[in-house]
Amino acid sequence: PGDFTLRGRAAASVVILGAGVAGLTAAYELGKAGYDCTVLEARAEAGGRNLTLRGGDRLTELRGPAQEVRFGEGVYFNAGPGRIAPWMVTLDYCRELGIPIETFVNRNAAAYVHTNGQTLRARTAQADMYGYVAELLAKATDLGALDKMITKDDRERLLDFLRRFGDLGPKLEYEGSERRGFTEFPAIGAGTPITAPGSLHQVLAAGTGHAITNDFGYDQATPMFQPVGGMDAIVTKLVEAVGADRIRTGARVTKITTLADGVEVTYTGGTLKADYCIAALPPHLLARIPHNLGAEVAAALRTPVPVPAGKIGLEYGTRWWELEDRIYGGVTETDLDITHIWYPSYGYHSERGLLVGYYNTDENAELYAALTPDDRRRRALTQGKKIHGEKYRQNVLSSASIAWERQEHIEGGWVRWPSVDSSFTLLQRPAGRVYFAGDWLTHLIAWQAGAMESARGVVTELHERVLRSP
Ligand code: PHE
Repeated sequence: PGDFTLRGRAAASVVILGAGVAGLTAAYELGKAGYDCTVLEARAEAGGRNLTLRGGDRLTELRGPAQEVRFGEGVYFNAGPGRIAPWMVTLDYCRELGIPIETFVNRNAAAYVHTNGQTLRARTAQADMYGYVAELLAKATDLGALDKMITKDDRERLLDFLRRFGDLGPKLEYEGSERRGFTEFPAIGAGTPITAPGSLHQVLAAGTGHAITNDFGYDQATPMFQPVGGMDAIVTKLVEAVGADRIRTGARVTKITTLADGVEVTYTGGTLKADYCIAALPPHLLARIPHNLGAEVAAALRTPVPVPAGKIGLEYGTRWWELEDRIYGGVTETDLDITHIWYPSYGYHSERGLLVGYYNTDENAELYAALTPDDRRRRALTQGKKIHGEKYRQNVLSSASIAWERQEHIEGGWVRWPSVDSSFTLLQRPAGRVYFAGDWLTHLIAWQAGAMESARGVVTELHERVLRSP
C-alpha cells in the first residue's frame, strides 16, 4: 500500500494486539517503513487461526482434553485456512515472502456427492442435472414457449448450446451420457459406461443441486492454491520478516486506554505505551477487555456473532482414495453432519495420506465439538463409511480434530454480522488512537485475504495520520 517512508519523521511506535494474520500483516507492512512495532499475542504461538498440525504438536482445547498429534513424517493438516483463490492478496504475500504454492484441487469430478442416502460421482450428478435442465429448456424453446423472448436465430443458438450443455440426443432428450463416467474405463475396448440415469423426478429428488454448485462462487472457483508444506508457511515467513523479538507470546491484554498523546495497553506481562494501537483480535474477545473507547464502540464489538467451525484430520496408512477411487484431491459434498470430505492436494502416490474427515459449521460443528476426540473420530468414520464403504474405517493411523470455538484466545471459526450495519462501519474507523483490524471488518470474512486487506487499509490510514501530525 503506497508510500510508507516516514519522510524524516521519528518512527512512531505501534502496539499491535494479536499475532494472527491481520496483526502480523500490519506489523510486517509497518516494519518495512521503519515503524517501531510490538505485537502482543495471548497464545503460545503466533498465527491465530492459520494453524497447521504435524506429528509432535499438542493441541489444547477449552472444556476438552488436549490432543497429541501423531501424524507421520511429511503429513500435515491445515486445521484452519486451507485454500486460496487466485485473486486474493494472500497470493501476493506468498510471492513476496518466497513461499512456494501449488494447486489446491477444489473441484474434482471424480469426488462424490452424497445426498439423501445416495452416493454418486460428482461427474454423474452433474451430467444428470445439466442433462435434464438442458432437455427441459430445449423442449420449451422448441415448443415455442420462449418465442416472445428470443429471436428465431437466437433460438437456434440456444438450442445448439443446450445440446452441448446437456449432451442431448437428436430429439432434444437427455438419455444419459458418457459424461456420467464408466465402471470399466475405455481403452482398447469401449469400456462400460455407468448405466442410464434415473428419471427427471429421481434426479431432482436426489437433491444434488447444492453439491454440484458449491464451487460456482467467485471465492471458490478452481484453480485455487495452497502453500507447499502447509498453510503456516505464511505465519513462519511473516514472523521471520517482522522479527520474532517483536512478538511477545503468552501476553494476554487486560486493558486498553487511548490517551491524548498515545495509547496504554496493559497485559499479563506489564504495561506498554505507544503512539498508536492496532487491535487485531476477534471482536468477541476485544469486547471483554476493559477499555475507554466509549459505549458505541463497546456495543459495536458485541455485535458480530462467533460461528462454530470444526475439522478433523484422518491419517491413513494407504491412499486408497487415489488407488481405488481415483480421487486426486478435491472435495466430496454431503448432506451428513460431516458436510465435506477433503482429499489431499499434495503427496500423491506417497505411502500415507491425510483426509479432512469433516469440515462443518454451526450445529454440526457444535455436535462434534461436544464429543471426545475419540468419539469425533468414530462418528466421522461412521459417516464417511456411508460414502466409501468399510475401507474408510480401516488403516486409520491417527487423527486430530479442532473445534475452533474451543480454541483459547480465538473462540470461533469466524464471525457473522447480523447485518452489515453501523457497527461494521464504526469499527472501520479508529477510536481515538486505537485502530481495529481483522477479516471480521471486511467482506472477506473467513479468509486470510480479509485479514490482510483489513491490515493494509488500517496501516495506510495510520501512516497518513502520522504524516499529517505536527
Ligand atoms: N474460507 C473458508 C473456506 O474456504 C470459509 C468460507 C467458505 C468462506 C465458503 C466463504 C465461503 O472454507
